[in-house]
Amino acid sequence: MKILILKGSPRPDGSSSALSDQLAAGAEKMGAEVEKIFLHSMDIRPFYWFTYSAQLKTCIDRWYSLWNYKHDAFKNKPFGVILVYGDTDLYTSGGIHAIHTFETMFRFLQARVVGWVYGSLMDVGDAQKHPGLMEQAFQLGQRLVACTSLTGIQSRLSLL
Ligand SMILES: Cc1cc2nc3c(=O)[nH]c(=O)nc-3n(C[C@H](O)[C@H](O)[C@H](O)COP(=O)(O)O)c2cc1C
Repeated sequence: MKILILKGSPRPDGSSSALSDQLAAGAEKMGAEVEKIFLHSMDIRPFYWFTYSAQLKTCIDRWYSLWNYKHDAFKNKPFGVILVYGDTDLYTSGGIHAIHTFETMFRFLQARVVGWVYGSLMDVGDAQKHPGLMEQAFQLGQRLVACTSLTGIQSRLSLL
């Protein structure tokens, strides 16, 4: 039997690496052939599947550095999310993972989620064929501005 271990953490001597080495040792003792690949040493083109794109994930992951520098950097900042997936089902599409990741991240950052617009669309041009979603996206844009203006008015009032 052959076993392939994909090491995803950037730390080659981290805990997940140590545990997967243990897995390898156990499997080798049982006669298996084990190959380990440290993914961070490879040049892998970002792609996506079952959640939002690798590019967006990489971008959002950088926000952690900003939060580390200033813990209230995102506090009460309004955010809107637009999410489309090809599968008709929010669960089998993986869209639910994207929503869960956004929710967890915004809660951690103490950001304010003003609204979500999501639906099943596959091909370029599909959005324009769904006026309901287009209208929701338009209204989300309006709500983002309205709540930002309100925050501005509130902070000006609190100065008076
Ligand atoms: C590289 C790639 C990966 C995709 N992965 C998924 C997926 O995991 N689940 C899903 O439901 N749809 C998936 N789709 C379908 C897209 O969600 C769908 O085509 C969507 O309309 C893409 O948004 P866009 O038109 O803004 O590019 C994928 C499409 C591409 C091109």
